[in-house]
Amino acid sequence: MRIFLDTASVAEIREMADLIDGVTTNPSLVAKEGGSFREILKEICSLVSGPVSAEVLSLETHGMVSEARQLAKVADNVVIKIPMTVAGMRAVRELSAEGIATNVTLIFSTTQALWAAKCGATFVSPFVGRIDDRAGDGMDVVDEILEVYGNYGFHTEVIVASVRHVRHVVESALLGADIATVPYKVALQLFDHPLTDEGIQRFLKDWEGVSS
Ligand code: G3P
Repeated sequence: MRIFLDTASVAEIREMADLIDGVTTNPSLVAKEGGSFREILKEICSLVSGPVSAEVLSLETHGMVSEARQLAKVADNVVIKIPMTVAGMRAVRELSAEGIATNVTLIFSTTQALWAAKCGATFVSPFVGRIDDRAGDGMDVVDEILEVYGNYGFHTEVIVASVRHVRHVVESALLGADIATVPYKVALQLFDHPLTDEGIQRFLKDWEGVSS
């Protein structure tokens, strides 16, 4: 399973660039950083060779497609994030025909993911944390999407998004999701175990009496 970083922070991306497989941003994450979106995107794309998702803001097909064409010019690894709406799916169909990679975002149900795949989306992003927030089960939705895609041989890849904790990543891997996109804090937690730290300290202490 590939791990993407879900952030627009250049500092966070720089720190993890050699380990991560890609980056996802969204308008809220970009707004937190301030500055020019295009410049931030250009810098992120220069740090990471994998896919970097950047979202359009228009809500109608024509506007989405023209924003997408502009963003796609920033770098070869830009992926256009399009919201899951009827207008959005028309844009995805058009962009897919032009060879522009898309990531359909704000996916909360299996039928939405089915439509996105039918329209030629490169990626879909089910928001598991936000589903859980509403007393649903985000990982059940991911499980269903993977089964449906398997049934019909869709090539659309599933990015588990809105990840809130390490368990979401474990379950994504158990289900065979293609990618989990994780906040910086969760990315670091994936490496952590207190017994590892304790074990290192114990080995170092025991080694103190050994002559080399
Ligand atoms: O990738 C989507 C993600 O950024 C949304 O996360 O925590 O705002 O639900 P969250």
